[in-house]
Formats: sequence, C-alpha cells, structure tokens
Amino acid sequence: MNALTFPILRLLADGKFHSGEDIAQQLKVSRATVWNAIQEAEKLGVEIFSVRGRGYKLSQAVTLLDEQAVLNAIGEHRAWFKLEVHDHLESTNSYMMKNLSGGQAHASCVAANLQTNGRGRRGRSWQAGLGASLTFSLLWRFQCGASALSGLSLAVGVALIRALHSLGIAQAQLKWPNDVLIVANNQAPGKLAGILIELQGDMEGPSAAVIGVGINLNLPTKIKQHIDQPATDIASVAGRQINPNELLGTLLKHLAEVLSSFEQQGFTSLRDEWIKHHAYHQQPVKMLHPDGRETFGTVTNVADDGILLISTPLGEQRFSSGEISLRAAE
Ligand code: ATP
Ligand code: BTN
Repeated sequence: MNALTFPILRLLADGKFHSGEDIAQQLKVSRATVWNAIQEAEKLGVEIFSVRGRGYKLSQAVTLLDEQAVLNAIGEHRAWFKLEVHDHLESTNSYMMKNLSGGQAHASCVAANLQTNGRGRRGRSWQAGLGASLTFSLLWRFQCGASALSGLSLAVGVALIRALHSLGIAQAQLKWPNDVLIVANNQAPGKLAGILIELQGDMEGPSAAVIGVGINLNLPTKIKQHIDQPATDIASVAGRQINPNELLGTLLKHLAEVLSSFEQQGFTSLRDEWIKHHAYHQQPVKMLHPDGRETFGTVTNVADDGILLISTPLGEQRFSSGEISLRAAE
C-alpha cells in the first residue's frame, strides 16, 4: 500500500476539508504525491470527496483505533492481551491464521482500521469500511482438542451480548450459531455483528481458535448495498456513535471472562444466558441445508455442545452449526 495513504487518512479523520497544499506541506511531499495516495485510498473503498478550491474530506469524521485507548478500556484484564492495531489488512482472521504456526501468543488480538477482504462462513464475504466497522481477531489457545470446542461460537456470542448491553445496546440478541441481531419492535431483525471461528490443532488437543468478530459501527449506503440480508449498525440503534476503542476494550474484557469460564466448564455454564438472549427461542424457524432443503419447526433448546434442538412434525431434530443456516419462518 502507498505509505502516505494512512497518514493522509489520519489528517482527514476529523471530517473537515484539507487542501492538497496543506496536506502536502504537513507531510513534506508534493501535491501530486498526495493525489496518488488519495487514489490508492479510493481503490481500497474509502470514499473521499474532492472539491475544487477546498480540498479533500471524508464523508464524516471517523475515530481510528488506538492501542493505548483499547488497553485502557479493557480494565483489569489488559495484561492478558497482546494487541496489534493495523491500518489495513485484507482479513484479520487470515492474518492471524497465517501467523499461527510462528508461535503467535495466546490472547493475541489483531484489529484493522480498514479490512478489505473480510470473510464469513463458507467462503461468504464480510463487508467493512474505514470508520464503518470494528474488525478484529483474537487467538485463544486451549489445552483441550478441537472436538471439545463445538459450543465456542455460542460462548463468544454471550461475550458480545454482555459487552453490547453494557454499552446501552439493549436490543442486541443472538441468532444461532454465530450472529448478533438487532431486534426492535415491529421491524425485521437486522444483522449487527458476525463471528467467524477457525480452529487449528488435533481433535485430542491442544488446539487454537482464531475468533474473528465484525461489528457494524456506521455503515454507509454504499457498503450496505453489497450485503444481501437486512443489516444494521450501532449508530442507527444507539442514536450516537460508540468509540471503537471503548467497544473493542469492552469486548475483550468480556471475552476474557467468558473464555475463562468456557475453558473450565465448557458451554454448560453459559447456556441459560445464551438461551435468554436467543432471538428465536421458542419461535417458528426454518433451517436451510447446504443442498437447498428446508426443515421447518420450533426452536426448543440448545444442548451443552451448542447443538440446536428443533421440534418438527417428524419429532425433535438436532442441528450442529457447520453447514446450516437458521431463518425466521415467514
Ligand atoms: P448463518 O445464519 O448461517 O450465520 P449468514 O447468512 O449470517 O448465515 P454468515 O456466513 O454467517 O452467513 O455471514 C456472512 C453473511 O453476512 C454474508 O453472506 C452477508 O449476507 C452478511 N454480511 C456481510 N457483511 C455484513 C455486514 N457488514 N453486516 C451484516 N451482515 C453482513
Ligand atoms: C459471519 O457472520 O459469517 C462472520 C463474519 C465475521 C467477520 C469477521 S471481521 C473480522 C474477522 N476477519 C474476517 O475475515 N472475518 C472476521
């Protein structure tokens, strides 16, 4: 990436106009060099307005991630974490997975101000933008094997709900197995956040989980257009911007607590809390199979290993998260 692109985006982060000349002077480069770096930012999907006589500006002010501010927000557990903030990564999960074999430390967290090729489950993509989203991945090493981690994505959901509720986003609910939705009166639920967990290690242990989380802060229409399901963001729900440093710190604090309890007792100790926040508990749903089949039923329970139990006309059926998607039954 052009080495000047992020220094320029830092200057533009206040949301005000900056003339090409001012930027060039501050960074001690030519105006043509500034122009080139701005082109690069646009190629990465950052929307920059350019007005003759006034200069360049972002569509609105953005708060960029700052390691110290995140650590302060974590509180007493801050020493547990090794935090890396990047200006730009294609995918924080891909970055962490690539570094796993190099002995990346337990509780390493990598966050990106701009993630340009984020991944969801099964090759789907996760849309994000500068100031529009919080994107990060946390590495957690477990003594147990990958087979004991089947409820992990649900446990992480509990941490997200605790963090969001503590920040006043009380409408946040869970959707099995890995989504956070906003459920508001008389409105279709909108997806606020997603969790992507990738595992490495033996079935017998030890194992490592890369826990990727994407949360929408303030999605511009341009990004929303690329999302093929109802999506929402914190700014629309809370009616105010939430500082991403405070959000990331609060999430890490709750992740530390939830993951410690998961390590000791598995998903069992978190199960009741998960059910309490499941948007579709006791609701009619359809389960979408990878081959296009659909199973209709009512959600009755979730098991200690994260399996969802659905009551169907053919009796109770059990679904594990791998390939299945849950939707409200119309
Ligand atoms: P499941 O119910 O199985 O989790 P899903 O449709 O939520 O299914 P995932 O793989 O979990 O699928 O998430 C990826 C999907 O999330 C994308 O296909 C897209 O529909 C949606 N998506 C992508 N980016 C965003 C975003 N920023 N905000 C909300 N939703 C998004
Ligand atoms: C989903 O809903 O399928 C999960 C989406 C997970 C997105 C996050 S953003 C940070 C991390 N890096 C990625 O490439 N994906 C996850």
